[in-house]
Amino acid sequence: MKPFILVTGGTGYIGSHTVIQLQQKEYPVVILDNLSNSSPVVLDRIASITGNRPAFVEGDIRDRDLVRQLFRDYAVSDVIHFAGLKAVGEGEAEPLRYYDNNVSGSLALFQEMEAAGVFSIIFSSSATVYGNPGYSRFTEETPLNPVNVYGDTKKMVEDILRAAKRAQPVWQVALLRYFNPVGAHVSGMIGEDPAGIPNNLMPFITQVAVGKREKLSVFGNDWPTPDGTGRRDYIHVEDLASAHLAALNKLQGGESFLTVNVGTGRPYSVLEMVAAFEKASGKTIPYQFAARRAGDIAECYADPALAKTLLGWQAQHDVNRMCADSWRWQKNNPVGYE
Ligand code: NAD
Ligand code: UD1
Repeated sequence: MKPFILVTGGTGYIGSHTVIQLQQKEYPVVILDNLSNSSPVVLDRIASITGNRPAFVEGDIRDRDLVRQLFRDYAVSDVIHFAGLKAVGEGEAEPLRYYDNNVSGSLALFQEMEAAGVFSIIFSSSATVYGNPGYSRFTEETPLNPVNVYGDTKKMVEDILRAAKRAQPVWQVALLRYFNPVGAHVSGMIGEDPAGIPNNLMPFITQVAVGKREKLSVFGNDWPTPDGTGRRDYIHVEDLASAHLAALNKLQGGESFLTVNVGTGRPYSVLEMVAAFEKASGKTIPYQFAARRAGDIAECYADPALAKTLLGWQAQHDVNRMCADSWRWQKNNPVGYE
């Protein structure tokens, strides 16, 4: 039997889509997740989509005994590490919890990997590590200058992996810096299910469309962009998931270290996203202009060239598909996984 891919955070939004693609490529998967921001129902949905239920260990990456036992129970070749907390505002309010979960948690995981002789890791980093460099098109060479606790945790984990690699060349590391994941599996059975009021644009729009929220607040119409609203590089979660398979393929082929932006390279404004969503869903999205959100920037998007040359990967799905799939998920699951 092929060895397992350990997917931490595998019942979460991006993790669950990646698990499906891994299983479709015949990789055995074991998920480790503490369900702090996800539902076990995801496992049933993955099973009905792929015909195969992934192995699941409920627990925390900081629980060393549990992680050690997991590596004894499953022959793991590579780890894809999604587990983490990701809400920017929450990180500012509870920095110690964020550093503990994201940094101490990753450190515990990496030490248990080392003890188990597992040295291949793909880490979920974020475009947020670049902060606000004063220009919009981010290459992998853009200096790392996070401006919030969440971004700082991502940079710290990157630093830890860079240092581990320098000291012990046996490590194989892929740092994937995601831009703005949206969309859902085409089945409409899995998707993004944020707890409480969504922080991010797309889940807010879909909740307005389904009648859960009254209207969207557009944070600023005076940005230096063509229509005055913020522009971002939205990427379909299925494309994002497939970037992990491309990275895994590279690491298994002997690649030892890569750092790659994962985006489309094409930004859309808030108003363009509203229009695209209205077209895809046939719903009207009422909105009002509101003040700029603290910490926001006008525009950012990936230079995706390196992903293409290094991984042979390129985003396939356009904004219409992103909106259609987000809407199918929300419409079929108006209260998420509950
Ligand atoms: P998510 O919250 O849906 O998934 C994260 C999963 O990790 C959840 O299922 C949660 O229960 C689990 N988890 C959290 N802390 C854990 C711990 N200590 N032990 C075990 N499990 C734990 O988030 P997502 O959107 O799927 O993001 C996945 C990763 O990608 C995160 O690391 C996130 O920071 C990163 N990322 C996300 C985005 C985005 O916009 N969604 C952008 C850039 C980077
Ligand atoms: C946010 C995070 C960032 C994280 C990223 C992906 C902040 C300050 N930044 O970035 O660290 O990596 O999510 O998870 O939280 N918008 C509205 N109304 C809304 C929501 C958003 O107008 O209700 C606008 C924003 O101002 C922005 C765009 O929509 O212009 C996208 O916002 P969002 O989805 O939150 O992503 P980011 O701001 O890129």
